[in-house]
Amino acid sequence: MIVGVPKETQPHEQRVALIPADLPALQKVGLQVQIESGCGQAAGYPDQEYLDKGATLAASRAELFAHADIIVQVRGLGSNLHEGMNDLAHFRKGQVLIGFQEPLWEPGVIAEQAGHGVLLLSMELMPRISRAQSMDALSAMANIAGYKAVLLAANTQPRMFPMLMTAAGTISPARVFVIGAGVAGLQAIATAKRLGAKVEAYDVRPVVRDQVESVGARFVELELDTQQAEGSGGYAKAMGEDFYRRQRELLAEVIAHNDVVISTAAIPGRPSPLLVTRAAVQGMRPGSVIVDLAAERGGNCELTRADEVVQEYNVTILGPTNLPATVPYHASQMYSRNVATFLKYIIKDKALHLPPDDEIVRDTLLTRDGEVVHSRVQSLLETTSPKT
Ligand code: NAI
Repeated sequence: MIVGVPKETQPHEQRVALIPADLPALQKVGLQVQIESGCGQAAGYPDQEYLDKGATLAASRAELFAHADIIVQVRGLGSNLHEGMNDLAHFRKGQVLIGFQEPLWEPGVIAEQAGHGVLLLSMELMPRISRAQSMDALSAMANIAGYKAVLLAANTQPRMFPMLMTAAGTISPARVFVIGAGVAGLQAIATAKRLGAKVEAYDVRPVVRDQVESVGARFVELELDTQQAEGSGGYAKAMGEDFYRRQRELLAEVIAHNDVVISTAAIPGRPSPLLVTRAAVQGMRPGSVIVDLAAERGGNCELTRADEVVQEYNVTILGPTNLPATVPYHASQMYSRNVATFLKYIIKDKALHLPPDDEIVRDTLLTRDGEVVHSRVQSLLETTSPKT
């Protein structure tokens, strides 16, 4: 079987789905890799490194799609709506596409590809279970985003992070508040601590308190009933509007005494909960910075605009939506390992093996034999307003 690695086409996407170091393990299970020229260039992996590891080079993108049984991408069509659609004509019936596909946000695009007979596997729906950990691309990318968010904040704010005692006086440490202590949040805490900041964090899931403390932050208690806040798979559940209203009020008090807020609160398949109001921003000290990692889904802060720098009340609000692509070498290394492990999982005896009762297959398989087969995507397609 041939695995094709095309060049990513979304503007600013610098990652690549497979890196040369993972090719030998794929060859062992009978997978040959073919690349489109330049696929790894922006991430720091030149064509020659792929060829040295046994890959072949396609003469063109069209030829790559014609040869490959399985296409691996960072951004499948659902997460690359404009440029990605140009590939639709390249796909053929029965061809497999593995990548981020945005199935819960773009179910129509998933259905369209099903119509073309493409078999789609979604990296973002990988279950958060122990045996799938090494394939959990969302966590790998969130880890990078948490790290980079702190660097952005440090670079933007007019203060330094560490406490410094110098002959020119004592500099007090920056105060950083992390909202949402999942994968991105925990990495943000750890990174801010390493830079010397004083860090506190909050999450609706009480169970993360120990994790927050183990990476060196103080866990903020709010007077809210969070007994029902934990959903399945380590994700949070959506709460009622009264809960969020009260939470916003209580958070504003904490936000007011911090210099930096990194917000990461997310509910899978839902718009981001609104947690930082305009009034809370107004209450921050001049020069404060908010990095809203939830920007792509509307943001946790009322003033966030995706991929823009907003300045209001002397506070800077950043809403970057693709931080992993700004660290493309390591982001590709991690994503490639996730993809290669997944490929090895679904290839048995040199053929595709997708038992429908396997949890990993059931959660990630979107389309098969011309149909959408994923129950959540099916129900989204049946509702009139798929994004709420
Ligand atoms: P996660 O699900 O592991 O963590 C989100 C956390 O938010 C959970 O611990 C959850 O309990 C918490 N949460 C939910 N509602 C909350 C509320 N009302 N108050 C406080 N905490 C709340 O998600 P992960 O993987 O850490 O991703 C976090 C965010 O970062 C997501 O929005 C994700 O899309 C985004 N992300 C952004 C990137 C970027 O470049 N901007 C890249 C990767 C991820």
